[in-house]
Amino acid sequence: MKVILLKGPNEFELSEIPKPVPAKGQVLVKMAFSPINPSDLAFLTGNYGLKKAFPVVPGLEGSGVVVASGGGFLANRLLNKNVACTAPNTGNGTWAEYMLTDANKCMDLQKNVSLKQGSMLFVNPLTALSFIKKAKKMHADLIVFSAAGSALGQMVTHFAKEAKIPVFGLIRKEELKEEVLSKGFSEVFCTEKTEYLETLKTATKSFKKVLFLDAIGGGRMPYETLNVLPDNSKMIIYGRLDQKPSDFSPQNILFKQNTVEGYWLSKEAQKKSIVEVVLDVRKIQKMLSAGFETTIQKTIKMEELKDGLETYINQMSSGKVLLDLN
Ligand SMILES: NC(=O)c1ccc[n+]([C@@H]2O[C@H](COP(=O)([O-])OP(=O)(O)OC[C@H]3O[C@@H](n4cnc5c(N)ncnc54)[C@H](OP(=O)(O)O)[C@@H]3O)[C@@H](O)[C@H]2O)c1
Repeated sequence: MKVILLKGPNEFELSEIPKPVPAKGQVLVKMAFSPINPSDLAFLTGNYGLKKAFPVVPGLEGSGVVVASGGGFLANRLLNKNVACTAPNTGNGTWAEYMLTDANKCMDLQKNVSLKQGSMLFVNPLTALSFIKKAKKMHADLIVFSAAGSALGQMVTHFAKEAKIPVFGLIRKEELKEEVLSKGFSEVFCTEKTEYLETLKTATKSFKKVLFLDAIGGGRMPYETLNVLPDNSKMIIYGRLDQKPSDFSPQNILFKQNTVEGYWLSKEAQKKSIVEVVLDVRKIQKMLSAGFETTIQKTIKMEELKDGLETYINQMSSGKVLLDLN
């Protein structure tokens, strides 16, 4: 079968490997689509939280049809169904004609959810849902969200609207402001403007409990932003889009009584019961069935991965690049 094979950091090629056979509790998925996410970029460079031995097939989530079961109730139940799936923790991932994974890493798709949209069902939607649960738990009256042009940003505003929590978005390119505002943010601020910190401080000062969701991680912006938010704000760091060292000042925590914590879906998912996962996925499928769509800027074949990566890296806010694995 045809696969993308990662032989070392950033060293990948189109290759042929034998089609695997599922063991008990596993399924073989004939892959249809898989997105390129920021976590895949980190995986390709060897900088992702989950490390796998080389050579390995990259790709963390996708969709397809279950064509073989290794036995067991869960695996047999999925046979011939369209599924959203994630890669196993060890072994090969989604950027392949076929993927072997655990049955509990697949969820059958509702009839009106397409294989394209279904390929992005796990990573961002489950993260957006978790964020809103955290916001509700701390009784947040405002969410401040960096990298607001992201696919995740659009999902967070969708669930925040249901929870009646306003979301302020932070972007680095002023020209994206109107487009990002149209994705459900109450206000949008450009972090590159000289008056940014003063404007944000004024706009947020009347809020009592602010949740700051940050995907940037490095440089000065995230910690300068935290410093102008009201006291007792909570910052959740969940991305490292800026690889520069972070300019973190302990005063943020010390005098303003702020809290800072990390979020990683892989670890968070392990804390959830199977019932909670099923309920969350149902909620997401309902959102997709109701017409919510992640923007797809380009669909590419495995042979076009290099160009696809370049397109995605140069214009991430324009939408996802999907690998067509058919
Ligand atoms: N921790 C977890 O479990 C978890 C789960 C899901 C997602 N995430 C993270 O969530 C973030 C968004 O994911 P996504 O799939 O929604 O992304 P996406 O749709 O591909 O969009 C990425 C966004 O990041 C912005 N960006 C990239 N580099 C930046 C930088 N150095 N400074 C400021 N903005 C930058 C881009 O804006 P421009 O147009 O300005 O380039 C774009 O709007 C990623 O960091 C991803 O790793 C984490």
